[in-house]
Amino acid sequence: MRDSRLPTSSQDGTHPRLAEIVKRHLGTRWHQPLRGHSQAAFARLAASVTMDQGLVLDAGCGTGRSTAALAQIHPDCLVIGVDRSASRLARAPILPANACLVRADLTDFWRLARAARWTLERQYLLYPNPWPKARHLRRRWHAHPVWPDLLGLGGQLELRTNFELYAEEFAAALELADRVADVQMLSLRPDQTLTPFEAKYLRSGHGLFQVRAILS
Ligand SMILES: C[S@@+](CC[C@H](N)C(=O)[O-])C[C@H]1O[C@@H](n2cnc3c(N)ncnc32)[C@H](O)[C@@H]1O
Repeated sequence: MRDSRLPTSSQDGTHPRLAEIVKRHLGTRWHQPLRGHSQAAFARLAASVTMDQGLVLDAGCGTGRSTAALAQIHPDCLVIGVDRSASRLARAPILPANACLVRADLTDFWRLARAARWTLERQYLLYPNPWPKARHLRRRWHAHPVWPDLLGLGGQLELRTNFELYAEEFAAALELADRVADVQMLSLRPDQTLTPFEAKYLRSGHGLFQVRAILS
């Protein structure tokens, strides 16, 4: 299997406009219309969710391998894996009873969950697309207009990435939102990896970075 390459960026540190953009997003509401398919998927899920069960979100779950693993780690919670890729979700393993997968766009899902006043126990962002080009800053989740909705869902947030700059910026954007961020490098054995991307990056010898914060 080929090694995967580390993302490279023209940025040599956090983006110079990070603070300005994050603060603007924290002070405004994002009004882009919601996609119909995300609304329908959220409505189906919401009909079966009760707020007396703890909710864990696996945001950008890909093939759902991490969703299955997280359901074993959090047996008292319902673990919801969300991804927009039908082809990735089609490769899901058999899930434990306390896990489910939803095809939706996260930029809609986070806003719908917030509007429905959901609160999460935990939220995982495992190896999100890095968008390493400086001009794509606003596509990274912490600089995206949906950032306040993601934060508003509360609970314990965990990001994992092999792109150190993403981890640094994510932590900085959390601090801008008055949350304390804990950044660490992970040292995992192959049998401890949670996702296919994590396994691939570990095999390729990449550093794996974890950022954690308590949102509420
Ligand atoms: C790099 S992959 C990581 C997948 C998995 N978490 C892993 O570590 O193996 C990023 C995932 O995020 C999903 N994704 C990216 N943007 C999304 C969006 N706006 N809404 C839903 N899923 C999205 C992609 O479809 C893809 O499966």
